[in-house]
Amino acid sequence: MSEAATLIAAARAAAAHAHAPYSRFHVGAALLLSDGSIVTGANFENASYGLSLCAETVAVATASASGRLADIVAVGVIGGMIGPEGLQGADPVTPCGRCRQVLNEAAQIGGRDLVIHCAGGSGDALASFNLSDLLPHAFGPANLGMA
Ligand code: THU
Repeated sequence: MSEAATLIAAARAAAAHAHAPYSRFHVGAALLLSDGSIVTGANFENASYGLSLCAETVAVATASASGRLADIVAVGVIGGMIGPEGLQGADPVTPCGRCRQVLNEAAQIGGRDLVIHCAGGSGDALASFNLSDLLPHAFGPANLGMA
């Protein structure tokens, strides 16, 4: 399987564990690490809506908690409204603005741009981006002398 297909499949599996009863929009994220291992996350909503965490942020925090923040090389994201036949929506889901900033922390600490593969819930449509194109002129650790 290609990198994109592998990460989208892992993200789709992770989306099955989304806790998203309020939006019913289930998102999964998969991070490819430099040793080939994969760390995943799913969105984690809260009854106090503003406290909700996106799938990408959960995944990056999980990698960081294992000491792997600097090792992230590529990302897969998939999302869609949950329906009777599973996830819906053909349009690829790209990381929200806050998640782009969170991913940028990993990119700058790791010293590399990240490739982000995005897919929709129902379809095979795939869109792949560099984080530097999704978040140009990013503020990050380098601005604080940390990378
Ligand atoms: N969501 C993500 O998990 N990642 C994104 O990049 C976009 C949005 C989640 C947040 C919320 O739980 C649901 O999708 C609807 O916005």
